[in-house]
Amino acid sequence: MTVQAMAPKRVGVLISGRGSNLQSLLDAQTQGGAYRVSFVLSNRPEAAGLGRAEMAGVATAVIDHTAYGKDRVAFEEALDARLLDAGIDVVALAGFMRVLTPWFVRRWSARMINIHPSLLPLFPGLHTHARALDAGVKLHGCTVHWVSDGVDEGAIIGQAAVPVLQGDTPDSLAARVLAAEHQLYPACLELVCGGAPEGPSAQAQLANGWI
Ligand code: GRF
Repeated sequence: MTVQAMAPKRVGVLISGRGSNLQSLLDAQTQGGAYRVSFVLSNRPEAAGLGRAEMAGVATAVIDHTAYGKDRVAFEEALDARLLDAGIDVVALAGFMRVLTPWFVRRWSARMINIHPSLLPLFPGLHTHARALDAGVKLHGCTVHWVSDGVDEGAIIGQAAVPVLQGDTPDSLAARVLAAEHQLYPACLELVCGGAPEGPSAQAQLANGWI
């Protein structure tokens, strides 16, 4: 009997800007790996990450949230339709600067992950590096987690820590964390797509999701 290789999961990456994490996911994907970045969607037409996707030959789309005014669900219905059209299995948020409604979160429940630039549950939200410096922590880092209703609250898949050094500024600390993000995100996406059970219970199964 021949053993059939599992088809890689089709990953849709949602971005709003620079797209360096998207680049790390593109660079790390391999023939025979568990995931394939198949679609990149931005809510901002000027996002630099769109160019990275095009360079890699990945289909892109822009759904400009400003066209939908305050109607978040209409914006998300458009997102959802494009992701379904592209046959996406798993959504990876990578610097996507829109808070998602419970409707969208539930639709992609246990199929959507995010990277956040702090060691959650410390410093959810914005300006994490300045807040880490203000708090005087000696270790900082990044977290990949399942997306749940609460912002930056979903079950943790993996974390990477970096030291906070004397004389650090928010920018120098951000650069150190970003380098760790670029290691952590592909490793976690590979774990999630490689058959880790769906949903927050995967947390227990991914005890090695640590870099
Ligand atoms: C990263 O620091 C990520 O953790 C946060 O937004 C930033 C996105 O950077 N969610 P990039 O667009 O991936 O370069």
